[in-house]
Amino acid sequence: MIQAQEIEIKQKGYVEILIDPTLDLFEEIKKIKKQKNAVVLAHYYQESDIQDIAEYIGDSLGLAREAQKTDAEIIVFAGVHFMAETAKILNPSRKILLPDLNAGCSLSDSCPPALFKKFKEKHSDHLIISYINCSAEIKALSDVICTSSNAKKIVESFPKEQPLIFAPDKNLGAYINKITGRSMLLWNGTCMVHEIFSLEKISKLKTRYPTAKLIAHPECEEKILSIADMVGSTTELLKFSQSDSGGTYIVATESGILHQMIKNSPQKTFIPAPPNNSCACNDCPHMKLNTLEKIYTCLVNEKPEILMEETIRVAAKKPIERMLEISNQAGV
Ligand code: 13P
Ligand code: SF4
Repeated sequence: MIQAQEIEIKQKGYVEILIDPTLDLFEEIKKIKKQKNAVVLAHYYQESDIQDIAEYIGDSLGLAREAQKTDAEIIVFAGVHFMAETAKILNPSRKILLPDLNAGCSLSDSCPPALFKKFKEKHSDHLIISYINCSAEIKALSDVICTSSNAKKIVESFPKEQPLIFAPDKNLGAYINKITGRSMLLWNGTCMVHEIFSLEKISKLKTRYPTAKLIAHPECEEKILSIADMVGSTTELLKFSQSDSGGTYIVATESGILHQMIKNSPQKTFIPAPPNNSCACNDCPHMKLNTLEKIYTCLVNEKPEILMEETIRVAAKKPIERMLEISNQAGV
């Protein structure tokens, strides 16, 4: 049985079991979490039902902090692989489950460790700041990690004369270069969701809704960020949508965040920014691999579990802890 499960996880990335269609998954998940002392930590890009059953919903920084401090035995990470890996790095005594192991990230994939190691060797006088959207191996090669919430503060914690490499997101790196006046060397990676927003379609929307504000995640391209009314991490975009006096927002990030925006400000209108293709959904195909059914089966089976080599974990922990330290000091 165990063997068959392992084969299935390797092939599919998750365990498939027949679920009684009459089961109330919301109730079952609640029950099993209590029995097993488990929590669900979810990113804002998860589907609405998953956000609704989570103990904590947040951005990458909030999720890392939450994973570090939880005393639950089991953490079900409703997000993507690098996020669950970060939780394991910070809290190795906990069982970290990812409902579908195939939930990767195009940014993380754009930075293969062997190539990055060569790049690092070529620029040995540079220190390395890596965006948290990267593998444990890349983290282990970095001096400090950052998220979109604290990237500016992390960069500014280095003296201006210090040569820096920023990896793997070239859009976030270019944005931080612009707002800090730095000239960090950028790795050529992008997010498949944020790089396809259409300037032309957004401009048309702005004409149609002249009072609408464009709010954008810094993983978007420069042409989108340069016309945005506000640029920020998912948490910052959400907070802005609550506190701002406007009524209509064009949201240039993954569609999952709209669930919290609408929940918190039901009187306001949120329009997903249109991408350059025929799909109008802005879904991250990796984030959306997680489903309520997979959360249930992974809680039942306690698999798929995130495991990693201890040497990589220890090396990757240092730059993440440095990030948390700088971030706490800066009040982010
Ligand atoms: P934040 O939620 O930290 O802004 O990150 C967005 C993202 O792309 C996560 O994959
Ligand atoms: Fe990666 Fe982009 Fe998906 Fe975030 S939205 S997980 S950066 S591919």
